[in-house]
Amino acid sequence: MIGVFDSGVGGMTVARAIEQVLPEYRLVYFGDLARTPYGSKSPQAICRYSLENSEFLLKKGARIIVIACNSAASVATEEIRRHFPVPVFEVITPAVDAAVNGSISGRIGVIGTRATVGSGIYEQLIRARRGDAAVFSQPCPLLVPLVEEGWLQRRETKMILRRYLAPLRDHQVDTLVLGCTHYPILKELIRRRVGKKTAIVDSSAAVARAIRSHLDADPALAATLQRDGENCYYVSDVTPAASQIASMIFGRSVPLQKVD
Ligand code: DGL
Repeated sequence: MIGVFDSGVGGMTVARAIEQVLPEYRLVYFGDLARTPYGSKSPQAICRYSLENSEFLLKKGARIIVIACNSAASVATEEIRRHFPVPVFEVITPAVDAAVNGSISGRIGVIGTRATVGSGIYEQLIRARRGDAAVFSQPCPLLVPLVEEGWLQRRETKMILRRYLAPLRDHQVDTLVLGCTHYPILKELIRRRVGKKTAIVDSSAAVARAIRSHLDADPALAATLQRDGENCYYVSDVTPAASQIASMIFGRSVPLQKVD
């Protein structure tokens, strides 16, 4: 199985891309709704949660871990790799590659949680690939709770987005990285704010393609992945909006199973 985790429903945008690119493999998802949002927690807490989530997925039969959460990927990737002897994929590197390859002016905006922006990981990786890049990062701590609440079309959400995105518009970025897997759910609102000329980078499809290449190059690993049965979606708590957002992301009803 391919194991995918996030702090909540945002990582389902990545799970959906994996389902589309790798439909032959089974997937097990864990959304830590009881402890969301991660982005406002300390790196130590996020690391601990991430190790627990990975262990849960491995116990369920995962042979690959996908960190479908930028906040967790920014502080816990190395720790997860150290603890578990399986391939670990994350959402930050593919987003950085897409932004660097796509940006013409080198003026790149990044929006993410406080944890992700505070880690400085996007600046570090973007500058390592393109030394002259100007990176403008904006923490957007209110967006994850708004998405988890299902406030996707509310006036308040639009106002908050306007406030967060204004500095990036002022900096005239030509590329905007959605540095949080919850943000693709707000992509159309974000597009309206930043305008058509700004390219929006969402790493979900790139992560799925990276897993596909890895499996094509490693048939022995591919052979260990389960192909039969249903994909399973586990959550540590069931919140009122979660099932609705899950159905919206997948375009079908997705049964969420609660685990402790
Ligand atoms: N989807 C997570 C991310 O990509 C949200 C983190 C949070 O819970 O704050 O960062």
